[in-house]
Amino acid sequence: MALLEINRLTVDFDGPGAIRAVDHVDLSVERRSCVAIVGESGSGKSQLLLACTGLLAANGRASGSVRFDGNELLGAGDPAARIRGSGIGFVFQDASGSLTPHRRIGEQLAETGVAASGITHQAALSEAVRMLERVRLPEARRHLTDYPHELSGGMRQRVAIAAALMPRPQLLFADEPTTALDVTVQAEIIALLADLCRELGMAMLLVTHDLGVVSGLADRIAVMYAGRIVESAAAVRFLAAPRHPYSAGLLAAVPSLDDPPGSELRTIAGTPPRPGTILPGCRFEPRCEHRQARCRSEDPAFIMQGAAGVACHFPLHEAEP
Ligand SMILES: Nc1ncnc2c1ncn2[C@@H]1O[C@H](COP(=O)(O)OP(=O)(O)O)[C@@H](O)[C@H]1O
Ligand SMILES: [Mg+2]
Repeated sequence: MALLEINRLTVDFDGPGAIRAVDHVDLSVERRSCVAIVGESGSGKSQLLLACTGLLAANGRASGSVRFDGNELLGAGDPAARIRGSGIGFVFQDASGSLTPHRRIGEQLAETGVAASGITHQAALSEAVRMLERVRLPEARRHLTDYPHELSGGMRQRVAIAAALMPRPQLLFADEPTTALDVTVQAEIIALLADLCRELGMAMLLVTHDLGVVSGLADRIAVMYAGRIVESAAAVRFLAAPRHPYSAGLLAAVPSLDDPPGSELRTIAGTPPRPGTILPGCRFEPRCEHRQARCRSEDPAFIMQGAAGVACHFPLHEAEP
């Protein structure tokens, strides 16, 4: 059994014009593995993570099933409390989602440690120093009395990661953990996350809009488009031969060092369907260079063959045997 098993997870928001942000998503994360979810802004990546951890906005409803270590997280009791106790850590896109601005770093980390494992405040402070060293924050002890705004963006993100690790999670949710950072700092944080997973034997569900971030880090890649997973495969396989035209477009948009200097950034033409609009056919059809008549009228089902799956009537490659 996988550590995290998501089945037919759907997220609906009430309001003027009902919005389905996540639509029947299936996804699993094996112990000690890293799964990356990639997709453009607005595709439902954050709502997927928030639904799993019971953190949706008040107008949101999740249905389906999310099992962590065999226990159902949806619908029973206070999911946020169960998550905190159960071993999922959460690093938010913006470190301010993880850190309180007006409280000292040491206090915040220690409090999380006390709440999670019932240790004394003093023991939790020592643990906080160890965790800050673990995320390679220079002069860790000296920073205990800092406020978050006294640190650079990269250091703040290291502290946010340390805070997420304090309860010693088995699984880390990382939602665009590097988007707010400079390119060089991005690479450092990604390398840090990879090291931490190895050192702590932790699994990771990493969300990003940037495929460049995931190569070398993810074991599996799942591509999300307009609330659905449209392709999922082992990372090596996916990066070598993406099967969904949208996946291929995302890969082609990753800038490469081989690009001639001054070449234009490639993007996928067009925009995703507006949330709430229902197309009879494939959601990507209006933007797809490979579309045929059937794509317009018939919604492609997600078909799993072996360890890989795709939702496309005319995949770019055959499934591997
Ligand atoms: N509280 C809310 N009420 C209504 N719609 C929402 C709410 N929160 C998010 N959404 C919508 O859900 C969709 C998916 O958002 P999100 O998961 O944040 O995308 P991303 O892939 O960029 O993380 C978006 O269309 C967004 O506008
Ligand atoms: Mg997001």
